[in-house]
Amino acid sequence: MQLEQKNVLVGVSGGIAAYKTPDLVRKLKAQGANVRVVLTESATHFVSSLSLQAVSGEKVSTHLLDEDAEAGMGHIELARWADIFLIAPATANCIAKLATGLADDLLSTLALATPAPILIAPAMNQQMWAAKATQQNMQTLLDRGVAQLGPASGEQACGDLGYGRMLEPVEIVEALASFVAINLADDNHLSDEMQPKPLAGKQVMITAGPTREAIDPVRYISNHSSGKMGFALARAAQNLGAKVTLISGPVSLSTPDGITRVDVTSAQEMLDAVEKDIDSQDVFVACAAVADYRIAHENTQKLKKKAEDLVLTFTKNPDILKRVAQRKNAPFTLGFAAETQDVEAYARTKLEDKKLNMIAANDVSQADIGFNSDQNALLVITKDNTRKLAKASKDSLARDLLKIVSDELFKSHKK
Ligand code: C5P
Repeated sequence: MQLEQKNVLVGVSGGIAAYKTPDLVRKLKAQGANVRVVLTESATHFVSSLSLQAVSGEKVSTHLLDEDAEAGMGHIELARWADIFLIAPATANCIAKLATGLADDLLSTLALATPAPILIAPAMNQQMWAAKATQQNMQTLLDRGVAQLGPASGEQACGDLGYGRMLEPVEIVEALASFVAINLADDNHLSDEMQPKPLAGKQVMITAGPTREAIDPVRYISNHSSGKMGFALARAAQNLGAKVTLISGPVSLSTPDGITRVDVTSAQEMLDAVEKDIDSQDVFVACAAVADYRIAHENTQKLKKKAEDLVLTFTKNPDILKRVAQRKNAPFTLGFAAETQDVEAYARTKLEDKKLNMIAANDVSQADIGFNSDQNALLVITKDNTRKLAKASKDSLARDLLKIVSDELFKSHKK
């Protein structure tokens, strides 16, 4: 299913066809999509937000300055959450607003704020659709890369015959699925050529995977990190235009094309590889699950099975991330925190202790996300902000996280 796990934001503007949107949402959900709905004020006269809430399973938003909505998923997060922004029905007024870039309500603001592709399904009286103004506005949107679904021809609510009917929900869902198949790569993000490149000219270094600390020549201690999140970050950084160095512990993942990969085994080797190249980096992302301790005295010969109990002494490994953050002219530092309780509080303490620019925290007590899973959910914490990135594929999260990093880089550059 092309729409499986895709985040579809549905914008409903005020036309009679809005009454079909609960059916549309139901069909999108049946295809496995995650759906959130926003209504314009006038759409609420044609369809109830309660019905849309019931079928989408999510709170429906109408107003830009809705305290409840902003406390949950604010409009910028909603704009970022979307993989696709579908506006159905799009009235003549809505199309005109989008063409001029007006942002005087939630729907039109989201259209400006979202990096996701926008698809619109126009619906209006045939004369209004044929009007030069509407046609020119539509052309402006098409020139900007907006995709148009319909309208169909047929009998209209007002009794007229002609082009202006919204496509049927089933046709919209089909069109959306083929749009995704053609334009969005498997990994929930835009194909490489379509990605904006906010990290162009930047060098990004990423650590990934576990480290392995030798006990003797044949044994080691390590952890279950798969390296998937770090590799997803490397791909996403490259797609956003960065030159990427990926320093990886032992994992069974292949290197994305065009990325410089340095393979290491132990924490000390990872630190050496990081320090060798750190001075030329703009961003350092520490995603590796570095072993906290290593054997105090490495055994050069295989340990013999003699005593009933074996006691090993460990010593602390260097904290690679902390060392990078402490450097003079440190790059922008992003760390990760895996927590099982009080996620935000512990992560914020880590942000301060390690003097990081940003930390991404996940709750590893949830079995369906985090270690070894293809999905994750993150709290992204900076000194004065906490943002929630809802559960999504690691590729989608990596892209969103790095977009936040590029925003922060831009802000600090402007200061
Ligand atoms: O202190 P804690 O291990 O919970 O911090 C996790 C963060 O620090 C991660 O970003 C991890 O990659 C980084 N880290 C590191 N070197 C270590 C330990 C953790 O870079 N020795």
